Amino acid sequence: MANSLENSLNEAVPNGTIIEKVNQVKTDVFDIAPGLSIKGLDELRVEALGKKGVITSILKSLKDVPADQRKEVGAAANLVRNEIEALLDSRKSELEIEELNAQLEAEKLDVTRPGTQIKTGTKHVLQQIQDQIEDLFVSQGYQVVYGNEIETDEYNFERMNLPKDHPARDMQDTFYINPELLLRTQTSAMQARMMDVHDFETGPLKMISPGVVYRRDDDDATHSHQFHQVEGLVVGKNVTMADLKGTLLSLFENLFGKGHAMRFRPSYFPFTEPSIEVDVSWNIVDDTTKPEDIKWIEVLGAGMVHPNVLSMSGIDPQKYSGFAFGLGPDRFAMIKYGIDDIRNFYLDDVRFLEQFRQVNE
Ligand code: DAH
Repeated sequence: MANSLENSLNEAVPNGTIIEKVNQVKTDVFDIAPGLSIKGLDELRVEALGKKGVITSILKSLKDVPADQRKEVGAAANLVRNEIEALLDSRKSELEIEELNAQLEAEKLDVTRPGTQIKTGTKHVLQQIQDQIEDLFVSQGYQVVYGNEIETDEYNFERMNLPKDHPARDMQDTFYINPELLLRTQTSAMQARMMDVHDFETGPLKMISPGVVYRRDDDDATHSHQFHQVEGLVVGKNVTMADLKGTLLSLFENLFGKGHAMRFRPSYFPFTEPSIEVDVSWNIVDDTTKPEDIKWIEVLGAGMVHPNVLSMSGIDPQKYSGFAFGLGPDRFAMIKYGIDDIRNFYLDDVRFLEQFRQVNE
């Protein structure tokens, strides 16, 4: 564009007066300006109005105009000059507004669009069951104790009436750390620890102990080397099997709702005498249900605390008695939610786990 105004001037009005010349520049600027960018307008401004611009140099020749006409010519020429300046200004601000609008359009944020959903976790279903069991027993005056996963052979076995050479130790294939220390195979280990410290003058000992236990079980792919248990123990005066039965009934009803039948089967555990295994019906039953239609699932072992176990904690079995139970919360979750494959709990499949999202979380 450089010099285009000047060339046009020389061509169109080579010998024109000052007024003719500034008007010619005005015509040219009004022609060219609408097609220019902001940068082009700035260049045109310099070419027309800058220190060395065509208008500036035309105005310089005012000194050659006869003195009596100079004022009039000067005023007219300045008017044109101002028109040119006004045009360039307004065109530039038009373009700036257009540019701003384009930018706003490009950066537009639609605040009504749905946001990105952030996935949140939820308590694992087994933890939910454990929480529910804890809440129930706490409401019945039990204390909750957790203990350590590394336990002594003494508390895990010997104090549970399982001396070193006892054949029943084979039932619990053990991870030993050294001959005296092991990964606990049963939460029953907390029984003697609590009996040792409880002051029976103040009332009965009522405790549950939830936690993780370990067994080697390396020859069986359907068993996990680590699983959950909840131990329960009540020791006091005149504690009977009827108390055990009532306690278990309230536990099952609280967890599963009414209508699940319960049955006791005789069993053997070294730390209880008599010992039982307890089954709960998978299905809801009533008086009209035929026995063969009841689907039983074993949920826990239990019994009356063996006198030897009491004696080893310095408790007189003539004065005191107790019941104990050990349950698997995964079995409970299976009944409660109708889950038929225990491996679902450990596979970390979000589609499975999400079904147990708690409403009030
Ligand atoms: N500790 C036993 C186990 O791991 C479960 C058990 C059975 C616990 C009977 C008890 C009980 O307290 O009385 O197989």
